[in-house]
Amino acid sequence: MCGIVGYIGNNDSKEILLKGLERLEYRGYDSAGVALLDEEGVHVFKEKGRIATLRKIVDKNTHAPVGIGHTRWATHGVPNRVNAHPHQSASGRFTLVHNGVIENYEQLKREYLPAHSFTSDTDTEVIVQLVEKFVNEGKSVEEAFRTALRALKGSYAIALLDNENKDVIYVAKNKSPLLVGVADDCNVVASDAMAMLQVTDQFVELMDQEMVIVTKEDITIKDLKGNLIQRRPFTAEIDASDIEKGTYPHYMLKEIDEQPFVIRRIIQEYQDENGNLKLDDSIREAMKDTDRIYIVACGTSYHAGLVGKQFIEKLSNIPVEVHIASEFVYNMPLLSQKPLFIFISQSGETADSRAVLVAVKKLGYRALTLTNVPGSTLSREADYTLPLYAGPEIAVASTKAYTAQMAVLAILAVDTARAKGISLDFDPIQELSIAANAMEVLCDSKEEMEKIAGEFLIHRNAFFLGRGLDFYVCLEGALKLKEISYIQAEGFAGGELKHGPIALIETDTPVIALATQAALNLNIRGNVKEVVARGANPCIISMKGLEHEGDRFVIPAVHELLTPLVSVVPLQLISYYAALHRGCDVDKPRNLAKSVTVE
Ligand code: M6R
Repeated sequence: MCGIVGYIGNNDSKEILLKGLERLEYRGYDSAGVALLDEEGVHVFKEKGRIATLRKIVDKNTHAPVGIGHTRWATHGVPNRVNAHPHQSASGRFTLVHNGVIENYEQLKREYLPAHSFTSDTDTEVIVQLVEKFVNEGKSVEEAFRTALRALKGSYAIALLDNENKDVIYVAKNKSPLLVGVADDCNVVASDAMAMLQVTDQFVELMDQEMVIVTKEDITIKDLKGNLIQRRPFTAEIDASDIEKGTYPHYMLKEIDEQPFVIRRIIQEYQDENGNLKLDDSIREAMKDTDRIYIVACGTSYHAGLVGKQFIEKLSNIPVEVHIASEFVYNMPLLSQKPLFIFISQSGETADSRAVLVAVKKLGYRALTLTNVPGSTLSREADYTLPLYAGPEIAVASTKAYTAQMAVLAILAVDTARAKGISLDFDPIQELSIAANAMEVLCDSKEEMEKIAGEFLIHRNAFFLGRGLDFYVCLEGALKLKEISYIQAEGFAGGELKHGPIALIETDTPVIALATQAALNLNIRGNVKEVVARGANPCIISMKGLEHEGDRFVIPAVHELLTPLVSVVPLQLISYYAALHRGCDVDKPRNLAKSVTVE
């Protein structure tokens, strides 16, 4: 987590850094800071809270052509001013920002700096003190930086300033994402290209265990032995308007509304001019060749994986297991003879998923990543990638990436089925188009969703009930609600209630039930009756054709397999309005970050 930026050029760096940090706030937002380097030396401004708070304390009269900045999601040490980045060496000569986790920081302190008294509780501070120690021992700054990097275990994206050399920013990367942006009169550093799009769309990707010497004219990439590395920049294909809120009050609402267009874009991107599905032959072969698929993901992406399992098993007849990455990595199940791993990740940077990818690649297995960020770590390190085409997702709560993940999984399942000669009465293009239209109808039903939120989501808790595919959507609905409104929400399989959770039902407990699966319609309604008999306040959301009198909302009919893409939309919207009514910060919920780059 955390985001870092850097600027070196002819202009005043202050506004560029602050704007860049605002765009990186999705990576963490509990404290922030900048270091501005001008002729007088380095000026550090940092504070607990958001970039808006930092803005207020940055001295308007400091005009520095060089600077670095950081927005934090605390891992080591509480979010406060002292633990906020940048951190400085004992003499104040070196100033550093870091994204990642230094696993051996305590050992490094004991081994190299036993007498040093550290000012913060962070793992980061040891890096800057190490650099200074090695310089004091006679190494050049570059060699001292490299020596410190070689001693680190863990993940890092680092930018370092030297008060005695105002013409350079030293940067380095291992496991945490980092790009160097190149422009005519300046160069920049950022955890994500989005942060520096106002300066350039030309970026150089860094690989693990690389460092870069960034001056305003040049960038020099080296490995940790000092060997030169040549790499050309790529053009970041992000539309600047995609990362603006426009007239929307929140990114989350904008992203919910974008879902029908995302599905239509996926249809376009995965279809050739003859209307056939367009996937790499290598992916097709890998799918045909495997005897078992292991889907690995976290959070919302895991929920999409649960739905994906149903698509792949039902359509292409391949057994699928779905695993939470953070569990899988420490407790690998017995694997089949020819496993294929599918990683699902909006950001492509999730550390828990990456840890599994690294482990399975070491074992020689093939991996496919579904991600919204081609070029991200999980995409680069897998054998194959399927892009989600959802466009940048800024709100911490994932919405359009989730529906995009399910749509791409549906396409993958159908393509595999066809490649295996399985005949299907399911046309994914047609059915996804119908689903996109249905999503649009739901996006137009905001007033109704706001009413439902006002009627039902006014308690400390809420339950979501579903069976079959509806159960997986309930897990996602509950996650959405809890993460943005802080209402304790749980998704349950309808039939499982009576095995324990029903004990939680009291008078007026809100129970939101989904009824979109024909074969399970009567069963879920029976489960609703059970909770009503115990005082619950039920809100049934059913699908056209399956509705009963008294259902609170009926969604348009879509193919039964694709109901998760559609039935999740009302759950996203009611979560949004519940959060709004409770005065929560919808786009940046407490304690969370968009991109979880620590294990
Ligand atoms: O970027 P990823 O899809 O790998 O992220 C996985 C989870 O961290 C993410 O889905 C998280 O659960 C979201 N906050 C859900 O809204």
